Amino acid sequence: MTRKMWMRGTVAAVSAAAMLTLAACSSEQAPSGSSEETASGEEEMAEGDDVISIGFSQVGAESGWRAANTKSIQDTLTAENGFDLSFSDAQQKQENQIQAIRSYIAQGVDVIAFSPVVESGWDPVLQEAQAADIPVILTDRAVDSQDDTLYESFIGSDFVLEGEMAGEWAVEQYDGEGYKMVELQGTTGSAPAIDRKEGFAAAIEGSDIEVIDSQTGNFTRTEGKQVMEGFLQKYDDIDLVFAHNDDMGLGAIEAIEAAGMVPGEDIKIITIDAVKDGMQALADGKINYIVECNPLLGPDLAEIAQKVVAGEEVEKRIVVEDLAFDQEAAAEALPDRQY
Ligand code: AHR
Repeated sequence: MTRKMWMRGTVAAVSAAAMLTLAACSSEQAPSGSSEETASGEEEMAEGDDVISIGFSQVGAESGWRAANTKSIQDTLTAENGFDLSFSDAQQKQENQIQAIRSYIAQGVDVIAFSPVVESGWDPVLQEAQAADIPVILTDRAVDSQDDTLYESFIGSDFVLEGEMAGEWAVEQYDGEGYKMVELQGTTGSAPAIDRKEGFAAAIEGSDIEVIDSQTGNFTRTEGKQVMEGFLQKYDDIDLVFAHNDDMGLGAIEAIEAAGMVPGEDIKIITIDAVKDGMQALADGKINYIVECNPLLGPDLAEIAQKVVAGEEVEKRIVVEDLAFDQEAAAEALPDRQY
């Protein structure tokens, strides 16, 4: 491999003005594509500006990534930055998210934002928000609605591309070895599980990497470990694990070690997220490669919410840029890693 760290993907331009407004009050690093605009700003929100009330329904607290994403949102949508945030945790249940969105509609908030736990089934509640004239912003995960007037903008990573980046690296490293691979999928029906699976499968097509099993570990460390234990009981010839997030990969490490094998050597591991725990395991040689999924979506959400409330045009899709790390690049990046 010639480059230790590489990136692909595009970033829709973000408004420098809005990032400037937020910069003074938020110390975190915005998604890679917008960090420069954020870092340089000094302006503060003008006195007398109206406070924007925003209801945010979060997926849950299933992973290190999710914790970092929640922190980014709560640290950015502050009173200091001109927001009145109502935050709810749906505990990975769609019905809880629908209930939260209905309650934000009843409260008459200025903006509703949410990260949909699964892709399908949102049209009725989004139509209710539209009927109440409350704009909706999607963060992190998409919905599969055919009617894109039901939301103003969708801010998040390209999950298909993340899967492709992981699969391309696997082919580059392991094609020709006859590797047998198991896959730990994210939450069934969620955009990242569907898209990462698709992207990875497309990238390894035509190689001799064989996917011998694929099951959901629901993006959690505990379920990732349990599913990996089952795989290890069922197969004695696993060479490679593709886990749709770091937490499931970390659970797989525990299962592999408990079975008396060496993760990263006897069984290679590729994951997605690049949160600190995952990066540490990568630097320690227990994971072999990680594709990043940037969770710091708070600044972009704040900017889009401000524009929507001001009646300005916003981009329907804002793609966040992601990096990728091998073991050496992880060791270099770890000291400055924020999440
Ligand atoms: O939607 C983003 C995914 O959700 C992250 O990769 C995962 O860690 C989280 O649970």
